[in-house]
Amino acid sequence: MTNLPHRPRRNRKSQVIRDLVQETHVTTSDLIFPIFLTSGFNKKIEVSSMPGIFRFSLDFLLDEINECKSLGINTFDLFPHYQESKKDKFAKESYNEEGMYLNAIKEIKRNFPDVCLMTDVAMDPYSSDGHDGLVDNGKILNDETLEILGKMSLAQAKAGADILGPSDMMDGRVGYIRNVLDENGFTETSIMSYTAKYASAFYGPFRDALDSAPKTGDKKTYQMNPANSREALLEAGLDAAEGADFLMVKPALAYLDIIKLLKDNFTLPIAAYHVSGEYAMIKAAAQNGWLDGTSAMNESLLCIKRAGADVILTYFAKEFASNLKQI
Ligand code: PBG
Repeated sequence: MTNLPHRPRRNRKSQVIRDLVQETHVTTSDLIFPIFLTSGFNKKIEVSSMPGIFRFSLDFLLDEINECKSLGINTFDLFPHYQESKKDKFAKESYNEEGMYLNAIKEIKRNFPDVCLMTDVAMDPYSSDGHDGLVDNGKILNDETLEILGKMSLAQAKAGADILGPSDMMDGRVGYIRNVLDENGFTETSIMSYTAKYASAFYGPFRDALDSAPKTGDKKTYQMNPANSREALLEAGLDAAEGADFLMVKPALAYLDIIKLLKDNFTLPIAAYHVSGEYAMIKAAAQNGWLDGTSAMNESLLCIKRAGADVILTYFAKEFASNLKQI
């Protein structure tokens, strides 16, 4: 036998030892479950590019939240799907207090006061242009958009949102929203900033889910270039200074270096959004028998956490939690 003082395989020789030395664990309490709301009653419509993910009408959505709670999921990120007829240039429906989204926030918090409810701040679900900001002659206006985001944020905070998620990537929005919230007494409402949100092809299925794809152009004048990482530090510095409570990186798996970069340079909690396309890829391959879907899910979530994410937004939250319950 060779005399080898270091044999790293000794710490892998049994499941018990592997468990003893495991450095990273994913638990259900690390996860935020994104959920899609649609109008009407009795509706549960599967998103064709996201098997197992549905748009729910409010009645069914409340049942879904109840079921998820029993699995240990306590944080949800709510996104609205609006008919084209509710959309306009200024996304006015986004702060209509009688509207579907704000009403759903109130109802969710009335039924489940202890749920942590995150909401989405951006114009795209309500915009006839399908952009996250106000469009003028093909340009996305920054400061004019902030005013709309401010109204939307205040309305969501009033409805009872616990965490606001500005996903729009306008400059200065975290500070602007923090200011509007504080001036109106909502000092306890948190902001999870989409800090390093890249112009990514992996958002495709989400845009199917909300019918929210841009009508013209793309999102490259506001979302970041996937080639850049120093720019993520610039964005994170601004968001931290402007009062963000969490810094998010999006997408997750192709951006693990960015998650690590922000984790190493900032003390705020880091979130990663494991996006729709990342979910769809695993589901599609699993449905074809090309991958073991459960193992690919577990490995993806584990590696996102290992890279430095404290919090993971993932469409796998319910499946992950129900698998854990069964063990
Ligand atoms: C838009 C928004 C997007 C996502 C969350 N908020 C898509 C986009 O920027 O076009 C993507 C989420 C996902 O793909 O799961 N404000």
